[in-house]
Amino acid sequence: MNRNLALEFVRVTEMAAIASARLMGRGDEKAADQAAVDAMRTMLDSVECKATVVIGEGERDEAPMLYIGEKVGSGNGPELEIALDPLEGTTVCAHGGYNSISVMAIAEKGKLLHAPDTYMKKIAVGRIGKGIIDINESATENLKRLAEAKKCRLQDLTVAVLDRERHTDLIEEIRSIGARIQLIGDGDVSAAIACCEPDAGIDMLLGTGGAPEGVIAAAALRCMGGDFQGILQPRNEEEIVRAKAMGVDDITKVFTIEELASGHVMFCATGVTSGNFLDGVQFTPWGAKTHSIVMRSKSGTVRKITAEHHFDTKPRY
Ligand code: FBP
Repeated sequence: MNRNLALEFVRVTEMAAIASARLMGRGDEKAADQAAVDAMRTMLDSVECKATVVIGEGERDEAPMLYIGEKVGSGNGPELEIALDPLEGTTVCAHGGYNSISVMAIAEKGKLLHAPDTYMKKIAVGRIGKGIIDINESATENLKRLAEAKKCRLQDLTVAVLDRERHTDLIEEIRSIGARIQLIGDGDVSAAIACCEPDAGIDMLLGTGGAPEGVIAAAALRCMGGDFQGILQPRNEEEIVRAKAMGVDDITKVFTIEELASGHVMFCATGVTSGNFLDGVQFTPWGAKTHSIVMRSKSGTVRKITAEHHFDTKPRY
């Protein structure tokens, strides 16, 4: 994969972020998501590649654009797979909250898990925690291992957990050992990435969230040197059938980070609303300012890009 492609893809998340950020706080999740989808779909065709969406807005019959299997890109160039979420944290954006992003993970053909739209139990850590986590162990055991690796006290670790009823026992357990918790309303992709950002103040992500988001987070952590494991958590028989149809025979399987996103991976995300590691879109007298992260697993380089977009010279914005 040509390294310059990563910089082309970030233009796509920038545009999707601007489009949805215009609708921040309107209370209309659908409209914010649609704006991001439209912008991302339009911009994608300007990128020199033959890409297939493997994680997107849903199945073809339920999503008119960016559906699973849709061909995107200019039609020339490398054959790629894309896992995307034009607006990760739709509710957050609709409420003007914290941590919504526009995000894409790009890999060579056959290298991303085609995750069904179900839940996934997840554990994510940054570079220091690589190789020491085990999703089948308790939260206590994983946190003890991380504290040892980080040479810090358990009480100094912060765990991000989605604020959901299903996490009552998990939260109780983490509290009982004295570790700190950041309950997040939405956006566990951002929380996973934050584990790799020393200034973001999150050491581990635990709990169950969307499986597609798990693949996207794993791709990001591959680039950043972190670690991630996931186990699908289908909610009913239909989801089990769907997972099997997508090639997952063993529903209890622990997916390692490499099994979720292998080979050379590129990742880019642009902040829609401000969060742990990216500021949101700021509208200015001339246009808008965006804050993005772009990275590649091959080089491990993490680029933070602040872009000033001038609407008078870019009428499509
Ligand atoms: P959306 O962008 O689809 O709104 O997803 C936000 C999110 O919080 C994800 O980050 C997370 O993986 C998932 O939803 C959790 O699902 P649920 O809200 O059903 O608990």
